[in-house]
Amino acid sequence: MGPDVWASGAAYEPYVGRWSRKVAAEFLRWLAVGRGARWVDVGCGTGAVTEAVLRQADPAAVLGVDASAAYAEHARAHLPDPRARFVVGSAGALPIGDARADAVVGGLVLNFVPDAAQAVAEMARVARPGGTVGAYVWDYAGGMQLIRRFWDAAAALDPRARELDEGARFPLCRPGPLRSLFTGAGLVDVRVHPVDVPTRFRDFDDCWTPFLGGQGPAPGYAVSLAEDRRSELREHLRVRLPYDPDGSIPLSARAWAVRGGR
Ligand SMILES: C[S@@+](CC[C@H](N)C(=O)[O-])C[C@H]1O[C@@H](n2cnc3c(N)ncnc32)[C@H](O)[C@@H]1O
Repeated sequence: MGPDVWASGAAYEPYVGRWSRKVAAEFLRWLAVGRGARWVDVGCGTGAVTEAVLRQADPAAVLGVDASAAYAEHARAHLPDPRARFVVGSAGALPIGDARADAVVGGLVLNFVPDAAQAVAEMARVARPGGTVGAYVWDYAGGMQLIRRFWDAAAALDPRARELDEGARFPLCRPGPLRSLFTGAGLVDVRVHPVDVPTRFRDFDDCWTPFLGGQGPAPGYAVSLAEDRRSELREHLRVRLPYDPDGSIPLSARAWAVRGGR
């Protein structure tokens, strides 16, 4: 498998974009940054966090930065708010001067960048003294049930899938390492907090079809399989999910949120 693919905002949304939006709303309530703030959304993707900031935090401005031109374009097209701007750029070298922002945040991004310590150092650099730096990542090893169940099914059929499992690939996505990452960047009053959101799927298709969009590690693996292996994986997963009497699938997702003061 090659690098993680982030090329189609339309395919990302039904996979985890729709659930990241729910986490973003809870995350911002927990951050409790005041109105009129200048925000930066690092790895903004299709705009899940920026949209929540616009809706909930009455910001002066939000700048979204993402490495994917296609995702930045998706965010621009879906959030035509004069307070929001989206640029293509790297989390490792943010295109922003020192101490310009009151709040610097990133949803589901720190485990995907090549150097998370460098990314958090950059988030801290562009935050003003007294400003807030915050992020969240999925609890891949446990409470992000959709992705957990996907990799458990994949590993039961294919030993190669064990190395690709995001629970194994991303040891950062646990409370201790997240806390160390933020304190290591010189941030103060660092706290980690679980955010749990329900992820109810209408039916099995609603759960499975987004894996065929190829965005990110698990869908990337699903589309890399030959048709017969993919069908085998689909059926393995189908019979192991919990179903309510109406055919819907009641899963939940946990993210670990982390915050620190500059
Ligand atoms: C799982 S998506 C999260 C998107 C969005 N924040 C959300 O919560 O839905 C990961 C995002 O990180 C971006 N990304 C990955 N590596 C990056 C880097 N080095 N610099 C900036 N963005 C990066 C990808 O392009 C993708 O949009």
